[in-house]
Amino acid sequence: MLSRLSSVSDKVNGPILFIAGTSLVMLIGITAVMIYFTIRYHRRRNPVPEDIHGHRVLEIVWTVVPTILAFGFFWYGWEGYKYIKTPPADAMQISVTGRMWSWLHEYENGVQSPELYIPVNVPVKLNLASQDVIHSYYIPAFKVKQDAVPGVPGLFLWFSAYQVGDYQVFCAEYCGMGHSKMWSKVHVMTQEDFDAWLRTEGEKVAELKKSAESGEGDENLHILGEALSKSKGCVACHSTDGSKLVGPSYKGIYGKTETVLTGGQEREVTVDDAYIKHSMLKPTDDIVKGYQPLMPSQEGMVSEAEIKALTAYIKSLQ
Ligand code: CUA
Repeated sequence: MLSRLSSVSDKVNGPILFIAGTSLVMLIGITAVMIYFTIRYHRRRNPVPEDIHGHRVLEIVWTVVPTILAFGFFWYGWEGYKYIKTPPADAMQISVTGRMWSWLHEYENGVQSPELYIPVNVPVKLNLASQDVIHSYYIPAFKVKQDAVPGVPGLFLWFSAYQVGDYQVFCAEYCGMGHSKMWSKVHVMTQEDFDAWLRTEGEKVAELKKSAESGEGDENLHILGEALSKSKGCVACHSTDGSKLVGPSYKGIYGKTETVLTGGQEREVTVDDAYIKHSMLKPTDDIVKGYQPLMPSQEGMVSEAEIKALTAYIKSLQ
């Protein structure tokens, strides 16, 4: 419980120990006094009960001591809160977007990743946003947790990780069917490993972007599409092996004739490039029969090149 894996750990551990310690001392003290009084004032030793009216010293003690304790709790917690809310100016900035039901991490050089990679002992600031409902970014090992609220800018959490390793990320705010699986990982790496990772990923992005923009028929296009389907979170709702999730599986869907509901009317459509594009931008227009209108619109979130790559990927899953 009191591990020290991040800079925030101490700020949380201190107040926990203080409050739990004080409570323990009081529990033992009060129990001891109760037992003592039960014996000392037993009917056999104290046959005539008596009331005490007023005792200045006692009253002052039981007013002043708890007041000091309560302010002590507050002060200690406030000090930690101030620390948690004051990121260092030179902290590394990473944008984190929550959406049903995955996290996306974006680095300043354009690299996008469904998992978080950070260097050890470097303050990182995660700037949180949500595309749909309230999510909450939670890394139990580092004792940090912050809600991502749609439409509320400026939400963040920051910390320095003290130990190289992999740690679990959860969503800590109920956000729908996939909430319990809205998890991710933090990979804490040495500075050299991190630099190498960021460089390699940056080169990959640049290369794949180039091939996506250069047009069709490129054999790398579906590889970019596969990476996008993970980083953009498509795979949370669309399986690639034919199994039914919240949305239809990608496997074998390209070229298929589907029955969809358009404005409450059933109709048949052929799944082609135009239909896939329309389904990304205006997903609630045509709902495949047997599914719920749950997909958020991707308008403004996917570029033309990315739509092309994603379509190529879906096409490749025959
Ligand atoms: Cu996102 Cu729960």
